[in-house]
Amino acid sequence: MSTTATAHTNIALIKYWGKKDTRLNLPTTSSLSLTLKQFYTVTTVTPNALADQLILNGEESDTTRTHQFLDVLRGQLGHFSPLTVTSENHVPTSAGLASSASAFAALTGAVTREIGCDLNKVALSRLARRGSGSASRSFYGHFAVWHEGVDDVTSFSESLNAPDMPIALVVAEVSSRVKKVSSSEGMRRALTSPNYHDWLTKSKLQFQDMQSAVMATDIEKIGSIAEDNALSMHALNLTASQKPFTYFTSETQQILAIVQDLRQQGILAFATIDAGPNVKIITTITTAPIVTAALHDALPHIHIETATSGSGINYD
Ligand code: PMV
Repeated sequence: MSTTATAHTNIALIKYWGKKDTRLNLPTTSSLSLTLKQFYTVTTVTPNALADQLILNGEESDTTRTHQFLDVLRGQLGHFSPLTVTSENHVPTSAGLASSASAFAALTGAVTREIGCDLNKVALSRLARRGSGSASRSFYGHFAVWHEGVDDVTSFSESLNAPDMPIALVVAEVSSRVKKVSSSEGMRRALTSPNYHDWLTKSKLQFQDMQSAVMATDIEKIGSIAEDNALSMHALNLTASQKPFTYFTSETQQILAIVQDLRQQGILAFATIDAGPNVKIITTITTAPIVTAALHDALPHIHIETATSGSGINYD
């Protein structure tokens, strides 16, 4: 028998950027995200007699992280035989979008079904958190919150049950020549910033304000809080006392300036950036083509794609 699950990726509007427990992946803050319709991972798991195996986009791939995560699941759910994990990422890797959120959510969903464990989404979100923190939010469609919690049981994600709204994310791919700092390593460094404590305090307030903005379908407010939250997160990286760094390239900064210009012209556009140089611009479905055209005029070589609100995990 085999089982297939599809999970969409999500972009945090209030970021997770720091762990208070690295083994359990307990975050220092609660976070809030939007699930994206256009970017997703389809994963099939099939028992095999030999060893865990990963086939990613048709190619046999390094199994270390998958195997470690499957062992976490074995520890939590009881032993199960080795699995062949076949995963197709419909997250343009060239766009540098984090695929770990959709990948670990789809894997958790497929494995638990395959071994006959009927878990609700809260339980799934706690398991997926151990593979990649952001994956805990990818079981839900539209807006999700991940409660930081104090232990394995209380750190889980749930849907915000937010009203529909015409929100869109314009994803601008920026090429990076600098060596990538993994999100775990970036978080370790950020924790050494003297500003980290202030960021925590601000993030907790922004988490509350963001929930109100989402429930009020106030896309301008959502964008404004998200941009401030993201730029503050990246300021931690620059001010780390151990190995300060930045994910920004000159193109990242150019796009941030374009976003500011658009706002001065009265166009709704706010930026958010994750563990890489790419910029996601929060706007509305009707304004997305204007944002895309402005970016294309200034940076004709970059790949731009618009994403809208997506659904939660599903099984074939
Ligand atoms: O889930 P991870 O370990 O890949 O970390 C995700 C970190 C950010 O994308 C920068 C923020 C977030 O909350 O998704």
